[in-house]
Amino acid sequence: MEYFDLPQQSNCTIVIIGLGYVGLPLAIEFAKNIDCNSKKILKRKIIGFDINLERVNALKNGIDITKEINFENLKYLNEINLTNDMKILNKADIFIVTVPTPIDKKNAPDLNPIKKASEMIGKVLKLKGKEKIKPIIIYESTVFPGATEEICVPIIEKESKSKLNKDFFCGYSPERINPGDNKNKLNSIIKVTSGSNEQSALWINELYKSIIKAGTHMTSSIKIAETAKVIENTQRDLNIALMNELAKICDLVKIDTLEVIKAASTKWNFLDFRPGLVGGHCIGVDPYYLTYKSETLGYKPEVVLAGRKINNSMPRWILKKIISELENNNLDIQGANILLMGITFKENCPDIRNSKIFELIHLLNEYNVSLTIWDSWANVEDCKNFFNLEITNNFPKNKKYTSVICLVKHNEFAELRPIEWESLIIKNGIFFDLKGIIPRQLKPIRP
Ligand SMILES: NC(=O)c1ccc[n+]([C@@H]2O[C@H](COP(=O)([O-])OP(=O)(O)OC[C@H]3O[C@@H](n4cnc5c(N)ncnc54)[C@H](O)[C@@H]3O)[C@@H](O)[C@H]2O)c1
Repeated sequence: MEYFDLPQQSNCTIVIIGLGYVGLPLAIEFAKNIDCNSKKILKRKIIGFDINLERVNALKNGIDITKEINFENLKYLNEINLTNDMKILNKADIFIVTVPTPIDKKNAPDLNPIKKASEMIGKVLKLKGKEKIKPIIIYESTVFPGATEEICVPIIEKESKSKLNKDFFCGYSPERINPGDNKNKLNSIIKVTSGSNEQSALWINELYKSIIKAGTHMTSSIKIAETAKVIENTQRDLNIALMNELAKICDLVKIDTLEVIKAASTKWNFLDFRPGLVGGHCIGVDPYYLTYKSETLGYKPEVVLAGRKINNSMPRWILKKIISELENNNLDIQGANILLMGITFKENCPDIRNSKIFELIHLLNEYNVSLTIWDSWANVEDCKNFFNLEITNNFPKNKKYTSVICLVKHNEFAELRPIEWESLIIKNGIFFDLKGIIPRQLKPIRP
């Protein structure tokens, strides 16, 4: 194998492209500039690039709207050259791409942001010219198997007029962070790494080893790393789908699903998944990346798509359940005064993107309900600007509702006292509790 000069591990310039939930924690970890194993001081220069000037300016002012960076780590923002200026990227030898990879209205992968980022990198490589020390491009965005080498690399090669594994190298290292989770953080989760050839794979693996305390797992190809990422989230999606289906069955049998799960969980190999609304931009999206690739190769996956179908059906199922429970209490959904608790796609995180709760709100509005939305984490302005929804971050004092629907397990909700829950409801009103946090004595309807 021919060997090339690659950048110096301890003294390279790294640019993180896309400073969101994934890119920002990564930039911060690199900015600490200390090898997490040897404790050796490093001299890497870190650039944080984002096309969103508002995001860049907020970060320059020490404001992180994702709330993923704790107070102690915010100081490392000062060590990052934060910019939306492409010209600065000429200085980089390592390009790490963490831009969004959503799906479109037909659930097909929307690769526009990753294609644009690749185009930009190609242009930067062209401007840099062919140097002795070869640049390395690492993709972290979730993609389908083959996307890095079949879609992104050809764009870079075309724009830069250079060749993979000769003029530049490439790698894929999926991100596994879990926003809102204070225990499993970037450096405590094993990182899967891969490279376009053996030399770059080893180099990339070393790079991540320097920031990931939990260590790395190097795969033999980029495609394996890409597929590992999508199957992780697909497995989660299917496990939740199974519990959602169980919830539908338990409802017909007239038993409590959560109690069934609790009992089943006493077996050592039962997986403790719960019914829920699968939103966000990972679990509800990544399976479609896998099924898309499969379908291009002539196989229509059955199990994966069945899981998606069940999970997508849950807002309507919840609505039906609420309507029938209201009817049981001689209450009408038409014009009902409802408190909806939680709008983010998951607990203890301000992210409202692709939250399935918007679908439930849309369905409820067809009944002209009077809706109060309380979410202790979501950004009030974002809800107004992007969804034209009024929400409050605060406990609705001195108000009583026909129905209280609790959908997200934010700490602030889980910590409410029985007396506070009770103060929210009219005499024959109903509690609907998707997450099992409302005190049992209040007889909440649970899935
Ligand atoms: N959020 C998660 O929990 C999570 C976990 C694992 C993997 N992922 C994956 O990581 C990727 C990023 O997700 P995220 O949640 O961080 O997204 P995000 O939307 O929070 O952040 C992406 C950032 O990229 C910027 N951006 C978009 N196009 C750009 C471009 N061409 N050049 C530079 N910046 C650009 C956006 O302005 C934004 O700030 C996605 O592929 C996602 O599936 C996300």
